[in-house]
Order: sequence, then structure tokens, then C-alpha cells
Amino acid sequence: MPERLPYVPIEALAEYVEQRVELRGWVYALRSSGKLVFLQLRDGTGVVQCVLFKPSAAPELWDRVRHLKQESCLRVEGTVVAHQKRQGEQELSVDDVEVLSEPATDYPISPKEHGTDFLMDHRHLWLRSRRQHAILKVRAELVAAIRDYFDSRGFTLVDAPIFTPNACEGTSTLFETDFHGEPAYLTQSGQLYAEAAAAAFGKTYCFGPTFRAEKSKTRRHLAEFWMVEPEVAFLDLEGDLDLAEDFLCNIVARVLDRRRRELELLERDLEPLARIAKPFPRIRYAEAIEILQRAGHDTHYGDDFGGDEETVISDNFDRPVMVTHYPRTLKPFYAKTDPEDSTLALNVDVLAPEGYGEVIGGAQREDDLDTLLANIDAHQIPRDQLEWYIDLRRYGSFPHSGFGLGLERTVSWICGLKHVRETSPFPRMLTRLRP
Ligand code: 4AD
Ligand code: MG
Repeated sequence: MPERLPYVPIEALAEYVEQRVELRGWVYALRSSGKLVFLQLRDGTGVVQCVLFKPSAAPELWDRVRHLKQESCLRVEGTVVAHQKRQGEQELSVDDVEVLSEPATDYPISPKEHGTDFLMDHRHLWLRSRRQHAILKVRAELVAAIRDYFDSRGFTLVDAPIFTPNACEGTSTLFETDFHGEPAYLTQSGQLYAEAAAAAFGKTYCFGPTFRAEKSKTRRHLAEFWMVEPEVAFLDLEGDLDLAEDFLCNIVARVLDRRRRELELLERDLEPLARIAKPFPRIRYAEAIEILQRAGHDTHYGDDFGGDEETVISDNFDRPVMVTHYPRTLKPFYAKTDPEDSTLALNVDVLAPEGYGEVIGGAQREDDLDTLLANIDAHQIPRDQLEWYIDLRRYGSFPHSGFGLGLERTVSWICGLKHVRETSPFPRMLTRLRP
């Protein structure tokens, strides 16, 4: 019986130096000289250089390997050796190659430059490239960091539904669908349900896909994105800011610690991320307006901020800035009115540094029944759809606060990307539903 070689993931090769192993993966790139073939093999855990030396290879093997196409699927046997040039890295000295499948035609994505539309049309294949791989590794780490943060601090995960009968964040961005003959909407935010959960569990969060039908074609807007939304009983706005601050510091530090290699591959400047520490600057909306006016922006008290304004504000700080106390009229019906100034809301937007814009929106929630009803009417929301939500104020109304962090915008910031589209495995945008 021939000995069975250990089947090893590329990321573990350092443990097998001088040993014979089997790898399984795909041809990422291939070049050959007169005597050598250099085959970059990727297996999902990494990329390794496999070297075939003509004088020690059977002629038939040499020919087969030399003509392999990009993305051929292989089983490769060989000996792990130290990389000839790169210290601390390994390569494989190849003894044998079995071809499991070979593309019938050339792989559409070649090392040459492609336009973004072409790459997005081939997103199902583009995911295999090193940069996309690194971005999605960072995304997965961030998801794990988010879950661990809340799970280890007494928060209970309570999922919110995706089909909803009513709007949460205003009616202009609703995706309408037909729910057995009745109109329903894809959720814009799990918050209203998280509030119900907070009354049942105290500290809770939901984390799932959310949808916005806004006709925005910016580098920060997706039609479908993931949001994590903690909601906490007996927490006021200040406590909400403390939570958001601690949470952001924690998740950024974890990704820096565990995904440094990926961030380096993305050529992310790590220094601004390493600076993310408490305390974050806290300013009021009115001060943000002053910052904009001093910078020469034609912005007036009462205006909402777009991406440009957010960048100007955040450029004044080297860490995330928390902007609070917006005019009530700019914020949804559920935000609590400031008891000290009834024109203001007890809300917060957290703007990421380096121009990445708003990553968190949150607020203390209106817990006074009559004020909430007045807000619902003022926003012209039909009360009957929200009776269940109003019940939360009828039966044991309680002070509470929460926020929502957009996953993709946060990945975009941490990875230092120009556009949010690459942070989603299969992004959905104003002009993209496929693949
Ligand atoms: O500020 P938003 O709209 O807040 C809410 O939905 C609240 N109900 C959350 C809460 O308090 N529980 O959205 C929260 C975050 C934004 O700060 C942003 O990071 C992200 O969600 N976001 C988007 N990300 C990508 N594309 C879009 N179209 C987004 N809209 C919001
Ligand atoms: Mg917002």
C-alpha cells in the first residue's frame, strides 16, 4: 500500500517543513522557464508557490503541468521546503499533480486590469482573487467580533423579522413586496422589534440583513446591508454613547489583531486604526454646523448631513466623532425628545474618521406614551400598524436606548476601500441585482 500523505491546508504549511504532503486547490497563476514551472496554488486558506523541476519530473508530468490553465482544480503532492527568497514562507517542491478539472476556455479574470462593472458581473469568480478574499476575511472577523462582544456581555440575541408591516426609518426607502395578498416591506431596521426584546431580556441585540430602497448611487449606499442593533433597558443617551465607543474600540482592535495580514495585503495604513481608543470626541449637532460653516460650507442649522458634510466634520478628529442632539425634525418618530430642549432629539450619529462617514446611528427612545403618539401622528404614520409597538409604552414603559452599526460601511472603513460594494459578497445596489 502506498503511504497516504497528509492533506494539509496551505495556511498550515509551516508545520510541515521537510515533510511530504498533499494539497488540493486551484491554479492562481502559472509561469514557466526552460527548466522550472512556478505554479501559484490557492486553496481558500492561502496561496503557495509550487515548483516543478524539469530534470526530476517525468516528461509527461512536465508537459501536463506546464500547460495548465488558470483555475484548473488540482491535487498536488510534494515536499514542503523553505521559500527560496521569502524568509518565513514555504513553497512546495512538486512530485506529482492530479488534475481534477480543467476549464474548457480561458478564465475570464486575468491578471490584467478589468473595469469594475466587468468584475462585478463576474463577482462569483472575482471572490477568488486575493484582495476580495482579504476583504471578506476581514468581514467575517468583524462579524465574529461583533457577536462575541455582545454574547460575552450578557446580551441576548433576538432576531427581528425581515417581512414587516410598517416602516421604521421613513417611508421613502421601503422595498414593498406582496405578502399573501397584503403589502409588506423588507425591514429597514430591526430596532422596533429589538425594543420589544429589550423589555423581555434587558440587554439584547439583533444582527441581520436590512434593506433600503433609496435611489442613492453613492460609494456608501447599498440596497441590502447587514446591521447589528443592540437595545438596552435602563440606558440613557450617555450610556448609549459609552456602549458605542467601547464596542467600536473592541471590534477594531480585534480585527487589527487577528487580520493584520489581510489588512497589509490591502495596503491599509494601520496607524489611523491603531489610534482608535477612548475617549471619542462628543459634539452636538449645533457644533457640527459651526465646524461646517467655519470650513466655508453653505450649511444652515436644520440641514441634514450628506457624505461631504460628514467628511468635513470628521476631518477635524483623528478618531470616530459622536454627533448628538440633532433637531427633532431630522430624526425618526421613535427618538426621544430632549427634556431640556423640546426641539432636539436625544440621538447620536457616529462618523468614522478618514472620510468614511456615518457608521452608527442611534438614540434614546421616546418612552412617554403621549409624546410617542404625537410623533407618530406628526410623521403621518398610520397608528394601527404600530399598535404593537405602542403597547411597549402602555405596559411597563421603560427608559431605553440602542444603536445600529452598518457592517459594510465599517468593513469599508477598516479595509480602507473607496467603495462599499466590495465589502459584500454579492452586493445589491441601485443598479445591481446580479449575480
Ligand atoms: O442611521 P440608520 O438609518 O439607523 C437605524 O436604522 C436605526 N434604527 C438603528 C438603531 O438605532 N437600532 O442606520 C444605521 C446604520 C448607519 O449608520 C449606516 O452605517 C448603515 O446603518 N446604513 C447603511 N449602510 C449601507 N447602505 C445603506 N443604504 C445604509 N443605510 C444605513
Ligand atoms: Mg442614520
